[in-house]
Parts: sequence; structure tokens; C-alpha cells
Amino acid sequence: VGYVGTAAGEDAVDVVLDGLSSLEYRGYDSAGLAVPTPSMTVSKAAGELSALEGIVSRRELAGEATGIGHTRWSTHGAPSDANAHPHCDERERVAVVHNGIIENYQRLRDDLVESGVAFRSETDTEVVPHLIGRYLDRGAGPEEAFRLAIDQLEGSYAIAAVFEGSETVYAARRDSPLVVGLGETGTYLASDVPAFVEHTDRVCYLEDGDFARLSADGVVVTDGEGHRVDRPTETIAWDPEDAEKSGYDHYMLKEIHEQPTSLRQCLRGRIDELEGTVDLEELDDLDHTGPIQFVACGTSYHAAMFGAERLRTAGVSAQAFLASEYASDRVPVDESTLVIGVTQSGETADTLRALREADRAGATTLAVTNTVGSSAARECDHVLYIRAGPEIGVAATKTFASQQLALALLAFELGDDPTRAELEALRDIPGQVQTILETTNARSVAEAFVDADAYFFIGRGYHYPVALEGALKMKEITYRHAEGFAAGELKHGPLALVTENTPVFAIVTGDGETARKTIGNVKEVEARDAPVVTITDGESDATRYADHVLEIPAIDDLGASVLANVQLQLVAYWVANLLGRSIDKPRNLAKSVTVE
Ligand code: G6P
Repeated sequence: VGYVGTAAGEDAVDVVLDGLSSLEYRGYDSAGLAVPTPSMTVSKAAGELSALEGIVSRRELAGEATGIGHTRWSTHGAPSDANAHPHCDERERVAVVHNGIIENYQRLRDDLVESGVAFRSETDTEVVPHLIGRYLDRGAGPEEAFRLAIDQLEGSYAIAAVFEGSETVYAARRDSPLVVGLGETGTYLASDVPAFVEHTDRVCYLEDGDFARLSADGVVVTDGEGHRVDRPTETIAWDPEDAEKSGYDHYMLKEIHEQPTSLRQCLRGRIDELEGTVDLEELDDLDHTGPIQFVACGTSYHAAMFGAERLRTAGVSAQAFLASEYASDRVPVDESTLVIGVTQSGETADTLRALREADRAGATTLAVTNTVGSSAARECDHVLYIRAGPEIGVAATKTFASQQLALALLAFELGDDPTRAELEALRDIPGQVQTILETTNARSVAEAFVDADAYFFIGRGYHYPVALEGALKMKEITYRHAEGFAAGELKHGPLALVTENTPVFAIVTGDGETARKTIGNVKEVEARDAPVVTITDGESDATRYADHVLEIPAIDDLGASVLANVQLQLVAYWVANLLGRSIDKPRNLAKSVTVE
């Protein structure tokens, strides 16, 4: 985060700390800030932002107009005070914050050490202020020194720097997001809009290779050669209220409860009632008939698996790949392929990398994302927004549901038109999620199993990715062992783990063959004394074998997988809550992982 205010502006420290708190979801193992006037003051602390707030001297820094700050999620060097950003040159003339990874830092560092520079941290970032310092020593002015230093860097970065005594923030980006906010009483810089959205809705996205010079009255953007470039100013629709907890104990619970609304938003205007068709306006010029590949990570990968299965059902050849494995998998991809990156943030480095490789191979690319203006949205040939609204909890909930729904819509756009029943089912989903939220007994199920040794989740078809997602949610926020399996695979190994203290959550809906087979697998675990929780619409006799039932309204299998997931989100939430975990910010995780 960076800020330069006018005389009528706010204290830089307040703006920067507030901004950082809205961005903490991007990483939070340490934080720091620098105010360069009247002389350079740098404060930093390991731990959550509150640790930094505790040591910053607001009195000493009151009335200062310029500042930069950072919350860190470690890539090089452990989370510690010394490794927290900002980093400075030896004489503290410049302070730098950085997201990304400087790939050639070791060589740069060796070179600087050889010329006598003493490093204070283990980070890759620290080479930047020392390089800037070197150019200052040689007589360059701040901007020139900044540019010359950035020119030396390989890898990915969003960088901001301030110089002692100067009311200017310098910035540069490559492969890591950076956005400028243009306010009435100052200019803002951040890696994401929530950092300053309470101050201004006028934004300007920087592109790869851009340099920016921020002053109180605006920004000048230039390219690598120093020529001015025009980056359009956009007005964004983002209600800052959305980013607050509105009375819920945790963002995660709030976001789980927002699902009826976010799902309705996802559907809005996309179903043509008269024609009985799905119409995704933004994809009007996407006319694809060849094979489809999905690339995604984490929760989004589970949505991608679901999307691929849905497309296969529509007769389209589709497969989901983990983005981080995509390159080494040597997946055959060419001009005939549509590669869909599913990424709520639009900034996940693994996913962007896979999309770029697909693009190089000539494929058409499509981003399915929640984040307008994100790198994925801007780089792909096409973009489909899931419209879930801002999600702050690190564990993805409403964005997963909206990804499922958006991908279901996409399948109708690319494949056959929906039947009446399918259309109705799509439209019913938001209301049925509401019913679940009002009637769920997830909390009592969580209470029954809070001391379990492990949690297993099984499902078939559309419910298989949901079983994986149920387990991932449980792991992420409870720190307990949890695994999801294709129901039929349980007997091929994992059954050895099943005991009377390992509840098995089975998703069984409808009364067709899939349900019957899953019930067969339920009997296998029941026979081994494991407690069984079924997530079911009651259409089959699955409840007969269950110790607990999490009910969902009757709908088709596709809709049921969205509904079943909501029950599993709530079970994970309540187990984590009973265990007193840090639900919105689980240890070791970050919401948006912008390194590979
Ligand atoms: C991180 C988060 C996960 C998320 C994954 C993909 O690992 O901790 O919760 O599912 O990134 O994020 P994306 O923004 O690409 O959907």
C-alpha cells in the first residue's frame, strides 16, 4: 500500500495501516511501513498487523503525508522483524516494499556483498534498496536510481519505494498486480482495490513493465524507456460495506450466508426466460467446438473438476488440471483447445503461468474469475465473471459456489440448451441454499465430532469434487486431518484408515445408480464401525445407514453438489469454531498466492 496526500489529506500512517488491514488476506506473517518525511522512519514487526500497529508511533508521525506499507507472506526467509518489509539501503535513504519473487536476487546479492554492502535480512527484496542506493551513490536522482535498479531485476514484482524527505511514491510492476487510486485529497497505490476503496472509486490499473510516480495530485505512468503511457481511469462499483463483517463473528460465516445473494448475482440476466436458454453476454464472441482444458489451484481446482465433468456430460471433451502441474504434465494443447483458468483472485501465479503457456501454444484462453481487472481477466482472450463480491475469508466459500454455478452456465452456453427442468433447477439453487442456512444442523454434527481423529468425505460424479472440497475446507481451518475420496476408491486403500473415531461424510442424492453405489460404500464403512454422516435429499434410503443426516432440498445432482457443499462448509466452520481456530486467517495460508 502507498499513499501521498495533499495538505487536506489524511495522515499517511492511518491510510497505510487501514489499507493493509483490508489486504491482510494476501498474506500476514509480518508487516511494516515507512514514512519518509521529515526523515525516514521505518517500523516493522513479525506477526499479524496488530503487532505493527502496537509499535508505530502515531504521535511522532502525525501530519505526515507520504507512506508505504506491506504485509508479507514469506517466500525467502522466515517471518521475522528483520525480514518484514520495507527494506532500506544502508543509509536509509530509500525504503522499498515488494510482492513477488526476484529470481536473480542471489547473483545481485553476491555482487552487492562483494562491493561491501551489509544485508540485514534474508529476503530477495533487500537487493532492491541496495541497488537503488548504489545508483544514488553514483549521483543518480531518485527516479533514475529507481528505474536503473528495477532494470536489473528478473522475476515478478510489484514494488513501491519512497525516498527520504520526498513526498513521492515510485512504483513498478511485472507479473504482480498493482493499482493506483485517484482521490480528492491524495493518491493511493495498492496491490488490490479494497486497500483504498473507502477513499476513492477512481482507479487506474498498471500494466506489466509500467513505472508510476505518485504525487498528491495524481500519477504519471511511464514505460521502461521513460515515455509517458496512458492508462485509463476507471470507476469501479465496489461498496466498502461489503468488505466488513456485518455482525457475523467471522468473514467466513458471513460469506457462507451471502451465498443466496451471490448465486443470484451470478445468474442475473444470464438466463433468457422466454427462449429457455443461457446467454452469457460477455462470451458472445466465443465460438468454440474443440477440446477444453481447465487449469486451477486449491478450491478453484475442485470447481474446475466439477466444470469439466459438467461439460463431459454435455458431450464436450474436457479435463481439469492442477495449474502447478500443467507444464510438467506435457498436456497436449494447440489452437483447437480452449483453456479455462478458474481463479477467484485472478492472480494465482500457478494459474497465470499455465494460462500463459496455453496462450503461447496458440490455445484460446478464458478466465473464470471474481476479480475485475485482475491479471487473469486482463490477459485472457475471454473472461467470465462469477460475480460473488469480495471474499475476505482465506478459505474460499461463496466464490466456490459461484464458480460451480458459472461453470454450469458455461456448459449450457457451449453445449446444448438446458431443458426446462434444468433451467428451473439452476434458478432454484439460491433459494435452496437459503433453506439450508435456515435449517442446518451442521453445528450439532460438528459438536459430535469435534474430537475425531480424522474426517473423511466421499462422493461420486459431481459430488466427488465436493468431497475433496469438504476435506480441504476442514483441513484449512481446523488443522485436522481430513481427506476426500471418490466413493468407489475408499475400498482400494483408504478404508484401512477408517475407525470408530473417523466420521465419514457421504454425499448421496437422488435414488439412481450413483446413489445406490455410494450407499454400498457407506455400508462398507458402517460395517467397520465408523460413524456415518450423510448429506442427502432423502430420496434414497441412505439415511438408514447414517448416524447423522445433513439434509438438503431435492434437486438434480448438479444443484445438489452446490447444496451439499454448503452443509460441509458449515461443518468445517463449526469444528474450527469449537476448536478456537483462526478461521478467517488460518496459519500458513494466504488468500491469493502470487508466487509459483
Ligand atoms: C490459495 C488459497 C486457496 C485458493 C487457491 C486458488 O492457495 O489459499 O484457498 O483456492 O489459492 O486461488 P484462486 O484465487 O486462483 O482461486
